Amino acid sequence: MKFYPVKVEAREEIGGYTLLHYRWDGPVEPGQFVMARVAGYPVTFDPFLARPFSFYDHDGETASLLFEVRGRGTALLDDAQDKIEVTAPLGRGFRVNGAGGPVALLGGGIGVAPLKVLSRRLESMSIPYDVFLGFADARYSDVAREFPGARVATVDGSTGVRGTVLDAAPNLDRYAAVYACGPNPMLAAVKRAAGENATCQLSVEERMGCGNGSCNGCVVPVRDGGYVRSCIEGPVFDAEVLAW
Ligand SMILES: Cc1cc2nc3c(=O)[nH]c(=O)nc-3n(C[C@H](O)[C@H](O)[C@H](O)COP(=O)(O)OP(=O)(O)OC[C@H]3O[C@@H](n4cnc5c(N)ncnc54)[C@H](O)[C@@H]3O)c2cc1C
Ligand code: FES
Repeated sequence: MKFYPVKVEAREEIGGYTLLHYRWDGPVEPGQFVMARVAGYPVTFDPFLARPFSFYDHDGETASLLFEVRGRGTALLDDAQDKIEVTAPLGRGFRVNGAGGPVALLGGGIGVAPLKVLSRRLESMSIPYDVFLGFADARYSDVAREFPGARVATVDGSTGVRGTVLDAAPNLDRYAAVYACGPNPMLAAVKRAAGENATCQLSVEERMGCGNGSCNGCVVPVRDGGYVRSCIEGPVFDAEVLAW
């Protein structure tokens, strides 16, 4: 897979997350992701594999990634001062057609990441939307200020309603479409709450090895039997396709 060295234009801390901006003037679809690693690879082989990140935002010239430091790969990206290496946008993102009325966007934890670029797309199509975000606590929920009007839940009750993102989003079945990203148990609950009449698209966060369809490390079970690769057929799936 081809990696492009890109200059880190800016970095900021938003609560528990890092927002990193880099130059990217190619097209980006909401829900697509990049494989990213620090520049200099493969000199260190540490870590061996690049890491997947959703596009947080893109204005046509600058792209940004919002990430949480979890281990070695994200810690190195957090420290990168000058350049990182990224792939072109990968995967199948959210499909937005605008039919049928207001839509709901739900993010759980770092699953908030693809919702900014998605909300920009909805605005460009004049589609009304509501945003619902769930976090562990107030430190992580700081990013909600990037989504004016978003309704927030925290597990410890320190911001917004106490509970999960679904506690902030009653009546999900009144929306024509529901788009969500977060851990699998949250996505399964969103699928149930959305009901059968709404379009429901879910962005999964399976761990990825290659990002280009060759390792089968990212597969998800589908209802018709078997598995599909979330880096190629996803990461955004129609909810009814998924087995859970
Ligand atoms: C399509 C896609 C988009 C993603 N977008 C974002 C994003 O926008 N921002 C962001 O912060 N993260 C995102 N992730 C998750 C991100 O890729 C991982 O956090 C990252 O790979 C961790 O790398 P690391 O080397 O820092 O941690 P590692 O050392 O690899 O792992 C540290 C800990 O995190 C756990 N972990 C690693 N990857 C995942 C995962 N995918 N799901 C759950 N737990 C995991 C490990 O089990 C381990 O406990 C995305 C993942 C996918 C598949
Ligand atoms: S990450 Fe290797 S096939 Fe998807």
